[in-house]
Amino acid sequence: MPTRSCYQILYEVNILGIETSCDETAASVVEDGQELLSNVVVSQIDIHKVFGGVVPEVAARSHIEVMLPVIDEALAKAFPSAEDKWTKIDAIAVTKGPGLSGSLLIGVITARTLALIKNKPLYGINHVLAHVYANFINNHQDTSSRWIVPEFPVLALIVSGGHTQLALFRDHYDYELLGQTQDDAVGEAFDKVAKVLGLEYPGGPSIQQIVEEGGDVHRYEFPKARLSNPYDFSFSGLKTAVLRQVQVICGKDHAFPSFELAELLSSEQVKDVAASFQRVAVETLVDKTLKAYHEFSPRTVVVAGGVAANSELRRQLKERLPIDIEYAPINLCTDNAAMIASLGYFHAERKKVDNPHELEINTSLTM
Ligand code: KG4
Ligand code: ZN
Repeated sequence: MPTRSCYQILYEVNILGIETSCDETAASVVEDGQELLSNVVVSQIDIHKVFGGVVPEVAARSHIEVMLPVIDEALAKAFPSAEDKWTKIDAIAVTKGPGLSGSLLIGVITARTLALIKNKPLYGINHVLAHVYANFINNHQDTSSRWIVPEFPVLALIVSGGHTQLALFRDHYDYELLGQTQDDAVGEAFDKVAKVLGLEYPGGPSIQQIVEEGGDVHRYEFPKARLSNPYDFSFSGLKTAVLRQVQVICGKDHAFPSFELAELLSSEQVKDVAASFQRVAVETLVDKTLKAYHEFSPRTVVVAGGVAANSELRRQLKERLPIDIEYAPINLCTDNAAMIASLGYFHAERKKVDNPHELEINTSLTM
């Protein structure tokens, strides 16, 4: 097993990406970190919807059931005419963290086993960092947007259900974390506020949709957190302020079960609370991105993670940022394995291969 990769001078390197950190079972093949050859995602959203959030044991069991068929489908779509599709794969990249332990284990054990029996180099990948690489993928299927390779320095706003970070990339694997959330991630705040308002999981798309039906964004003035590092985030105060406001509207106090409040709200009240919350959450993200843009003068700004799909975030960034942003298609903003395969390529150029007998998950892996 080589200790360093030999890919620096090679082209047409196909990496199989595997992603199972939360509630999506995904596999994808990406060539040279950029060309999307296949992208298969089986989402468990419908399974978890009835519980109002992800149930870890249910998620792990569901990953086991579909993991191998998802990988087979990704290989079949990438190489429809190849007899032995595995001969086309140069390495395997798998999410090793952060995420839910049971979910991560399914992907990592599968990748370790395949690396051994198919004799492929294995790379353990950081899921949060990988979200940024959705922006490095050329998705030929999406003809609605031009694709331009992000140029360094790249300012990245990473906004998902588990993470909210601003990072400045001078090159691949040469980045500075400018700030991060001190409590809830912004996607988590969307999900929790949606729950209080009686909207479906996942909360982000539900809130966006109901606000688009109308809603007064200034009906309620929710607070923005002030932190000593201007690039850090905090959304737990905003989430609690929304809950308190809903209690006031309903004439109930903290002793009243929060999951019963939604039944007392009119649809107009739901829309106004959702619109006022979304405005402040998004303004917070944009304020800090704008400040970092002016301080660090990046050549490119990218937005990564599930919340990058938010239309109000895109609208405010377009209105306030002096440069245009090219967004990854929505199916690459939310969890997928193409971003894992893409980062796997740049990772392989710079990092040691992982030992398939030893690669461990890390549920709280940081950037
Ligand atoms: O990146 P992702 O798919 O998974 C994580 O790594 O967490 O992000 C999921 C998060 C959820 O919190 C979901 O509510 C949020 O992204 N999200 C959105 C939108 N679409 C997904 N938030 C706001 N607006 C959206 N359109
Ligand atoms: Zn994610």
